[in-house]
Amino acid sequence: MTGQLQIDRLSLVFRTRHGAVRALEDVSLSIERGEILGVVGESGSGKSVLAYAVIGLQDPAAEVLGGRILFGGLDMLAASEQARADVRGRELAMIFQSPRTALNPIRKVGRQIEDILRQHANVSSGELRRHAINALARVRIPDPERRYHAYPFELSGGMCQRVMIAMALACSPFLLIADEPTTGLDVTTQAVIMDLIRDLSRSARMSTLLITHDLGLAGEYCDRIAVMHAGHVVEVASVEKLLDHPAHPYTQQLLGATPTPQSTIEGLTAIPGQLPDLRHDLPACRFSARCARRVAACEERPLPWVSIGPDHLVRCQVPL
Ligand SMILES: Nc1ncnc2c1ncn2[C@@H]1O[C@H](COP(=O)(O)OP(=O)(O)O)[C@@H](O)[C@H]1O
Ligand SMILES: [Mg+2]
Repeated sequence: MTGQLQIDRLSLVFRTRHGAVRALEDVSLSIERGEILGVVGESGSGKSVLAYAVIGLQDPAAEVLGGRILFGGLDMLAASEQARADVRGRELAMIFQSPRTALNPIRKVGRQIEDILRQHANVSSGELRRHAINALARVRIPDPERRYHAYPFELSGGMCQRVMIAMALACSPFLLIADEPTTGLDVTTQAVIMDLIRDLSRSARMSTLLITHDLGLAGEYCDRIAVMHAGHVVEVASVEKLLDHPAHPYTQQLLGATPTPQSTIEGLTAIPGQLPDLRHDLPACRFSARCARRVAACEERPLPWVSIGPDHLVRCQVPL
């Protein structure tokens, strides 16, 4: 098993009482071993849906219409739930957006880390406690020996988040999926966590899919960035190219709407128009209704991927 992840033309809808929500369409992405891929986009663009699809824990209303997710040698969509469960927690770990729901409310946090180590790492029972305390210390939880005995309700939200991150990293996954991992943490802790993720990428060649609305953070820690809009990936490039020479009008607006590296996409209101209603029939380019460069071809399928240069792809009829 390698850490490599490949998502090929993934399309997914939610069947709801109010119609089918076309949450992902034709999404293709890959992450190499040791690489940190950032996924950015406004709230509602499909970042979390993509993350849950990769780990195979999506909502029962989700239906995959097509595409493949290959993790190492495993076809994640075709694999049995047992095979996926074996992979989760050992080769693949996820940091969720809502830490409290990821923790067991009635078990001490130290014990929860031990559970993971016992199931997924070769740690002898005599060593479990020391490893669990180390895992807490690594995410800079003060007084880890004492916090080991805490229940989640005794900890603040930020502390729960750190516990969840400690759990995710405890058995050195090949692939980490981190959905807004540091939202709500103070900047110092955020840097500690992100440095830890980067160290593991470099030293243990862990691959990371980092979902964030913080372009400054993505620019600092990612190797490549994928931009999502309304269930599409619209541009993928190395960090330098994406930030210095964005080619998709949406990426340009996201960056143009970012006055400082500290800004967040969610916090910005300068992008005209709204995400389209994903229950409606949509044109090939889902950004076209918001786009000043729109031409007739934007409505026509298939929407091409255009190569702007090495390691720089954009899904647009009129890239700049
Ligand atoms: N269980 C669900 N049922 C119906 N629609 C959903 C469900 N989960 C997510 N969606 C829709 O899918 C789209 C993408 O959501 P999400 O991936 O959570 O966005 P974000 O990029 O903010 O993480 C949104 O339009 C959202 O309303
Ligand atoms: Mg989300």
